[in-house]
Amino acid sequence: MKIDTAKSATFSEKAKYKVPFGTVSVTKEARELISQALDSNWLTRGKFVQEFEEQFAALFGVKYAVAVSSGTDADALACAVLYDYGARRGDEIIVPALTFVATGNAVLQAGFTPVFIDIQRETLNINPEKIEAAVTSRTRAIMPVHLMGKPADMDAILRIAGKHKLHVIEDAAEAHGAEYKGKRIGAIGDMAAFSLYAAHIVTTIEGGIVITNNPEMAEALRSLRNHGIVGKFEFRRVGFSAKMHELEAAVGLGNIKIFDRILEKRRRNLLYLIDKFKRFEKHFVTIKEEPHEKIGPHAFSIIVREKAGFTKDEFVAHLDNAGIDSRNLFYSIPTQCPSYAFLGKKPGDFPEAEYCSSNGTHIGIHQDIELKELDYVAQVTEEFLRSRGIKL
Ligand SMILES: Cc1ncc(COP(=O)(O)O)c(C=O)c1O
Repeated sequence: MKIDTAKSATFSEKAKYKVPFGTVSVTKEARELISQALDSNWLTRGKFVQEFEEQFAALFGVKYAVAVSSGTDADALACAVLYDYGARRGDEIIVPALTFVATGNAVLQAGFTPVFIDIQRETLNINPEKIEAAVTSRTRAIMPVHLMGKPADMDAILRIAGKHKLHVIEDAAEAHGAEYKGKRIGAIGDMAAFSLYAAHIVTTIEGGIVITNNPEMAEALRSLRNHGIVGKFEFRRVGFSAKMHELEAAVGLGNIKIFDRILEKRRRNLLYLIDKFKRFEKHFVTIKEEPHEKIGPHAFSIIVREKAGFTKDEFVAHLDNAGIDSRNLFYSIPTQCPSYAFLGKKPGDFPEAEYCSSNGTHIGIHQDIELKELDYVAQVTEEFLRSRGIKL
């Protein structure tokens, strides 16, 4: 079954797209498990959630996984674990300026202050050269985001974290299956938070999960998702209500079975489109894969170059008219999200993040997209460039 679940479009809107932004795969096995869960009469967190956590941890090569209600909760709970390690409310967590707004929101929801750092246009990830200058006596963690499934520079991040005794929490929401120097993303920092929203490779429709090799952190996460519970009915942390239920876990268990197939298809699509866009290199910066990494593809980012002679909006309108759905390449959270005005940052403080946001878009490369549709994307892009008088 093919269900398009692009976050902000309605079903009637989506019908118009030949190349939709999102998709979700609910397997036959998931349907059977959902029926079993319904019949079992136990629908809140139970054996399916536990089984899902064990399989997810094994898939990512770590000891523990704690399933929660969303990727945002996964981020927030991972941050809140730091209170067990001496952090105080209002302490700082370093995050990239360009990311889905949930990263910043989660840091705030956990009671910390996000300290935003500019990103690199070519990688879309936090600029490691700018991190150290932002470390203060109140910094507790660095939280890199592997945007679009492209790994952040983890060697540099771990070096700075080690030097200043900071924790590293990976926001791996978009990076299922990504690898950095032979290691799967999620197994590198102290904890990694994943979204299991429908757009991602492993999905429970809505959901999230935190993975770690640290047993105390795993225990704290289990407590935090359930109101800060310890033991039977004692509440010792400022907890969240962020539990996953059995029906979600059933979808996730079915989905893990086809993880390799989805990852392979998305990687095929990504590498194919990277190759197709080489011809347009003078006009767009697109996501690239380096020899030391494997991208766990989320979507395909396209940034209009400075001297392209056309705007992102003109390009996006052309894609839209041709039935190719897209999303803005997120925002520079501190300077382009009005809800963050309280931080007192001003336009120009995060030039690369702001540039990517103002000039960048991203389109789908998910498992229900075939090569002929990617050929179509390339053809529509070529038509657009020719319509602007550009010779290829
Ligand atoms: C980088 C990043 N962090 C956090 C989230 C939040 O995930 P959710 O929508 O499951 O809350 C997302 C969403 O996909 C994301 O892209």
